[in-house]
Amino acid sequence: MSEEQMNDSTFNRLFIIMIVVMTVLTAIIMVLASMAASDVNSRLDERADIENSGSIAARIAPVGELANGTAQAAPKAAPVTLSGEEAYVSCVACHGSGIAGAPATGDVAAWSTRISQGSETLYDHAINGYQGSAGLMPAKGGNTSLSDDSVKAAVDYMVEKSR
Ligand code: HEC
Repeated sequence: MSEEQMNDSTFNRLFIIMIVVMTVLTAIIMVLASMAASDVNSRLDERADIENSGSIAARIAPVGELANGTAQAAPKAAPVTLSGEEAYVSCVACHGSGIAGAPATGDVAAWSTRISQGSETLYDHAINGYQGSAGLMPAKGGNTSLSDDSVKAAVDYMVEKSR
């Protein structure tokens, strides 16, 4: 009889120990699971950053492009290069008639000293903008969606007409 009671209390003690052990194990598993989840989340964030940065588009962009004007399947990410005449649309408001100190296209006298600075300076001033003594030349004429090459083409276009 007493032996049976001993067995019962041994069982009770074991039972309680088991419950404590299982509770502790559960807590440990929960901590590990949340650590794993935060690792996955941070890797998902990293991946989203990479995808958003456009580096994938750059990596899978075609190596070469046809430049014959008819079949230009330009990838979205690549900036479009306009002809000088097309890009000049963003310049004509000021340079068409010479508003606010802008040297007018075709005004040879107004352009000669500017042209003598060299193309690189003209490109730099047109792309990045500058404050001169005659007025403010806004970067890319204020049309920041123009690619650098489009702006250079517009400069060449204006210079050609102003020699
Ligand atoms: C809001 C008016 C405005 C627009 C639009 C504008 N410009 Fe100008 N630009 C100026 C002014 C003003 C100057 C003269 C600044 C000075 O020398 O004081 C100037 C000067 C220049 C010069 C001469 C730079 C030098 O070093 O002498 C170039 C080249 C030029 N612009 C290119 C462009 C091109 C290309 C565009 C279009 C993409 C454009 N500009 C659009 C106002 C404008």
